[in-house]
Amino acid sequence: MSSSSTPPKAAPAADNTSPEDITSAAAASFAHCERPRLRLLMQTLVRHLHAFADEVGLTQEEWYAGIRFLTKAGHITTEERQEFILLSDTLGLSMFVDAINHEQGGATTESTVLGPFWTAGSPLREYGAAIAERAAGTPARVAGRVLDPAGAPIAGAELDVWQNGDDRLYAVQDPGAPEHHLRGRFRTREDGTYAFWAVRPTAYPIPDDGPVGRMLAATGRHPWRPAHIHIKAEAPGYQPLTTHIFDTDSEYLDSDTVFAVKPSLIRTFVCRKADDPERPDGVDGEWFSVENDLVLSPSQPSHPTVTKEQ
Ligand code: BEZ
Ligand code: FE
Repeated sequence: MSSSSTPPKAAPAADNTSPEDITSAAAASFAHCERPRLRLLMQTLVRHLHAFADEVGLTQEEWYAGIRFLTKAGHITTEERQEFILLSDTLGLSMFVDAINHEQGGATTESTVLGPFWTAGSPLREYGAAIAERAAGTPARVAGRVLDPAGAPIAGAELDVWQNGDDRLYAVQDPGAPEHHLRGRFRTREDGTYAFWAVRPTAYPIPDDGPVGRMLAATGRHPWRPAHIHIKAEAPGYQPLTTHIFDTDSEYLDSDTVFAVKPSLIRTFVCRKADDPERPDGVDGEWFSVENDLVLSPSQPSHPTVTKEQ
């Protein structure tokens, strides 16, 4: 409060009442941001959000429905349940960002969506070990090599693998499951080879009991993903790779609800009979095997990005 008897002069109102003026003012409000990348992201986001509202003639009820949707997505999100990743995935944004950041059709293995079920801290397991810690489906042996683009083996690459069981659930979705069930880390041998026992994957619906599921239902979309096994591969000197092995016999390969299928990632799970001479000890009855080589790209110098610390 001014102590003088003269009331302080009000600042002249900014002339920013037309839609165009509001967009300009909101974008200009970031003009003094000292980090150029963050400034660009915020100004462009503002312009595109406003352009969206303008193009569809967004009503105030629709604006508030959007706010309620995001609020519910926040409320349902926990360490184990990431509704915002599901939203990004089902809107195709995750795969769009993947596409503009990864070379397509080159010599290296294509990447695909990470999804919400990867968790840090999977146990390091021996070459050829099983990731299922209790019955979870028909055993499937996954084996291959990790290579550079010239075909040379990469020794000591680390593969972090995870999958759902035949009850359709990942261990993180099932409080009764052993903590490390259906996941594990493996290192390639000197010749680049790796192997582990998984189970034949089954198609499953993404969690659809929250706002994203209601959005899918309201728009006539299904929540299913085709059967797959997740792999994250890392090796010093190479770009990390997040990918899947898709099962060629699965339903939903042509309508994955998160748009993550790439034809180069589809593999045949070969059915092996109980009397197959290669049947390993401890496996009874029918089993499957799948071959899957991974080709990693050499690291490139990084360019500036906005990270969560910023
Ligand atoms: C997954 O494959 O685990 C997944 C990916 C996107 C959304 C939900 C699940
Ligand atoms: Fe998955």
